[in-house]
Amino acid sequence: MTIGREVRPIAYPRGEVRASEFRLVEVGVRQPRPGEVLVRNTWTSVDAALRLRLREKAPPGYFPAFPLEEPMDGIMTVGEVLESRAEGFARGDTVWHASGWRDYAVVEAERQALGGVGTLTKLDVSTAPPQAHLGVLGGNGLTAYAGLFHVAGLRDGDVVWVSAAAGAVGSLVAQMAKIRGHRVIGSAGSDEKVRYLLEELGLDAAFNYKRGTLPDLLREAAPDGIDVYFDNVGGDHLEAALGALRRSGRVAICGMISEYAAEEPPNGPGNLMPAVTKGLTMRGFRGSDHTHLLPEMRRQTGAWVREGRLHCRETVVDGLAQAPAALASLLRGDNTGKTLVRIDDVRHRENAGG
Ligand SMILES: NC(=O)c1ccc[n+]([C@@H]2O[C@H](COP(=O)([O-])OP(=O)(O)OC[C@H]3O[C@@H](n4cnc5c(N)ncnc54)[C@H](OP(=O)(O)O)[C@@H]3O)[C@@H](O)[C@H]2O)c1
Repeated sequence: MTIGREVRPIAYPRGEVRASEFRLVEVGVRQPRPGEVLVRNTWTSVDAALRLRLREKAPPGYFPAFPLEEPMDGIMTVGEVLESRAEGFARGDTVWHASGWRDYAVVEAERQALGGVGTLTKLDVSTAPPQAHLGVLGGNGLTAYAGLFHVAGLRDGDVVWVSAAAGAVGSLVAQMAKIRGHRVIGSAGSDEKVRYLLEELGLDAAFNYKRGTLPDLLREAAPDGIDVYFDNVGGDHLEAALGALRRSGRVAICGMISEYAAEEPPNGPGNLMPAVTKGLTMRGFRGSDHTHLLPEMRRQTGAWVREGRLHCRETVVDGLAQAPAALASLLRGDNTGKTLVRIDDVRHRENAGG
């Protein structure tokens, strides 16, 4: 029998995530039944929002919490089909699905996962490597594209601020807005990331939010205010945006990473009155609410990547066992661009013991 490995949480973090709160478990991998495929996972995603599920209860309406001592279902992954008993899939296909943080997965082809974004899907890897489908051509691309163009409703002349702009989603949003000709301001948590935003991504202004107070830093970067705020951070970043937004400004609320480890519900923005006086629109969304945009997003961002207009930096960690440490590192802000785990091939373990 094939022996696989999977990462399981064994304790919920209090505050910072620690690798010791997970363990790698060896499991027997069963054969696929009719309607299923067996996949050897090659790359798996590391996402900020996993932190929301590492607790007794996930936020209402969100994907469920990860039960302790169980495999972590609902994490995007790409891999290669080893055996198929499902129509439309064959040995050798590259696919994505949502049974990540393990090296083998038996996946039911028809089962909807992650609101439809993570349902087993055959990928075209002729123009982009498999792991691009976890970032720019996958859920991150969809979140950036849907959030910027459909939720924030980007209009000609808008000045855009993107927080966590050097991260997976933020770096795509910032570049998409630049490609469409906007003035774009990015913020991030280190001087090195600020250099990346200015020199590699070509943003018009960027600042390190740790180097001053947000309203001052934002005023300096956007003296005449902003029209769109793409919020990845929440808290003090959202408050600063409310102060800087101009009349009829819009906020796409994508995530609130500054609040994910909070034990108590954080205070709301203390300055909501500008939403009244300036006629602001704040709209939360999830990429998975917009799966109908996947084909359009892939066509458009795929073209931008091929033309060299959209750059996708990766922070790659080698070895499945390193996935928890990679998550901890991302939450601390050590990553740039998309964080990925390249899964080591352990096929030599197959048939161990006959
Ligand atoms: N709505 C959706 O469907 C959807 C989908 C995917 C992701 N998201 C959200 O998008 C955001 C980014 O996610 P991602 O997976 O792309 O992660 P990411 O941006 O690649 O990594 C997270 C980044 O957040 C920054 N950060 C951490 N703590 C912070 C704090 N207290 N204040 C300010 N910045 C902080 C860090 O960068 P710095 O060095 O800049 O601090 C870190 O690199 C998250 O809020 C996530 O929940 C939403």
